Amino acid sequence: MPKTTISVIKADVGSYPGHSRTHPKLLERAQKLLKEQEGKLLIDSFVTHCGDDLELIMTHSHGMDNKEVHKLAWDIFMDCTKIAKSMKLYGAGQDMLADAFSGNIRGLGPGVAEMEFEERGSDPVLVFMADKTGPGAWNFFLYKIFADPFNTSGLVIDPGMHEGFIFEVYDVQEKRKIQFRTPEETYSLLSCIGTCSRYVVKSVRRKDGMIAASTSTETMNLVAGRYVGKDDPVMIVRAQSGLPSVGEVLEPFCTPIIVAGWMRGSHNGPLMPVAVYEANCTRFDGPPRVICLGFQINNGELVGPADMFDDPAFDRVRSRCNELADFVRDQGPFEPHRLPPGEMEYTALPGIEKKFGKRWEEIPE
Ligand code: F6R
Ligand code: MG
Ligand code: MG
Repeated sequence: MPKTTISVIKADVGSYPGHSRTHPKLLERAQKLLKEQEGKLLIDSFVTHCGDDLELIMTHSHGMDNKEVHKLAWDIFMDCTKIAKSMKLYGAGQDMLADAFSGNIRGLGPGVAEMEFEERGSDPVLVFMADKTGPGAWNFFLYKIFADPFNTSGLVIDPGMHEGFIFEVYDVQEKRKIQFRTPEETYSLLSCIGTCSRYVVKSVRRKDGMIAASTSTETMNLVAGRYVGKDDPVMIVRAQSGLPSVGEVLEPFCTPIIVAGWMRGSHNGPLMPVAVYEANCTRFDGPPRVICLGFQINNGELVGPADMFDDPAFDRVRSRCNELADFVRDQGPFEPHRLPPGEMEYTALPGIEKKFGKRWEEIPE
């Protein structure tokens, strides 16, 4: 059986006004360039945006980390960067950290989530895309979807899922990885992935090896060694028939969680699930947002999309997110609204330390 690969590759190559949203000209150009590859390098494609991030959703038969597919994405981002520069869009080309493509787009700036699988009789896939936060934001949701029976009733009552899942976790600081098996290693898994700034769930598999979820884990601040924007992560989740159902995958997004990112990548705030037409960052450059597009995969064809959060069922979490936003905003520059020094992406602290360094006096014993 031929296998299908889904590659979701994203970059912020410029937006308007400020870091708010991607310009339609960039979306049109990216979709046109992808369409030209359908029937050639690609089977199908879809372009969207979440906030200031341009999102390329591609299907093909070349497997993960394919050089040509990654180069196509890189070239499209470069092309869109040119348009962004010609329009003086804000942050034109900001995520394009390398001067030239070199074999694989990982580590060059853009974010990548990919998975390759043999299509089942019917294969529903959900693509999640977030803005103004980092890849650790997915940890909570992946835990709830694949390891919490209070969220996913299938863990208890579907024999296909009853054995549990394997979580692959990346330590983005030490550049190492580990696997945890659930339910038996649940507490150890949680002890790691609760530290979202350091440990990131990279993938989830069923214990028979079937791929169920895959995320982007590029940590741009570590890649660049200086501030260039939060990673604004993407995630692919397969659903149904021995995996959590579409509704079980969406259910944890009814909980308004606080994530790191938002203004200047340096504040905690609520992650708000929104429809694509509402995926434009405004208030305090946010609040952080997540969109979800649902597809059926038909021999690589993307049947869809369905805009999954465009639904009154998510009105209440949106309203709770707004309340939380009011609540944390009142704290202004104080932690825990503002991130601790090591996690802030912008910081004036070293400069202030230098300026006032000599004025500090020792406190007598
Ligand atoms: C956060 C983000 C924005 C900017 C902010 C300041 O990821 O993109 O909140 O950090 O608008 O932007 P600059 O420093 O470009 O003026
Ligand atoms: Mg930005
Ligand atoms: Mg962004």
